Amino acid sequence: MTFKRIFENNEKWVAEKLALDPEYFEHLSKGQNPDFLYIGCSDSRVTAEDLMGVNPGEVFVHRNVANLVISTDNNLNAVVQYAVEFLKVKHIIVCGHYDCGGVRAALHPSDMGQLNSWLQTLRDVYRIHRSELDIIEDSQKRFDRLVELNVIEQCINISKIDHVQRAWYKTRYPTVHGWVFDVRTGKLIDLSLNMDQIFGEVSSIYDLNLD
Ligand code: CO
Repeated sequence: MTFKRIFENNEKWVAEKLALDPEYFEHLSKGQNPDFLYIGCSDSRVTAEDLMGVNPGEVFVHRNVANLVISTDNNLNAVVQYAVEFLKVKHIIVCGHYDCGGVRAALHPSDMGQLNSWLQTLRDVYRIHRSELDIIEDSQKRFDRLVELNVIEQCINISKIDHVQRAWYKTRYPTVHGWVFDVRTGKLIDLSLNMDQIFGEVSSIYDLNLD
């Protein structure tokens, strides 16, 4: 893929959209009203809109290395607050993916510079679930399971955020979902997490008792 090719592609894309609907961009420019906030990995293979089959305007997207929800991440917090308070999204999705380089790095510690502190959260996930992970003999299965457990822990981290808890008290939304994208098959897997139960188990620690 060359740099120039991207702008040629863009011209083609605009023409295709206008051929189907001459007012496409006029509608798009009127604003967004997405029902979903998607938090996924920056991995170039895991393209949120493509794998969900959604159009521009349908999903608010945040991506970082290994789809982490870190309480001191100002970027993430701003995205969540905007999505919950202003866009009033109905669903927050944390989507991990198999063969995630960030998760692999957490399983094989080494000096990775700036990534050392970022991936510490993933190493914490490993530590919390060590007894489950260490008895999985197949290294591929252990890797896959850490991808899934990371998604679960990041969903719990979403539930700790004050903006999310405040919205829950007011409207019961947004619903939190944990997904894994399987890059080996293209399939999207819903971990079918029962977040009411999962948050219920830790609510005495994390419920901020907001009005
Ligand atoms: Co990844």
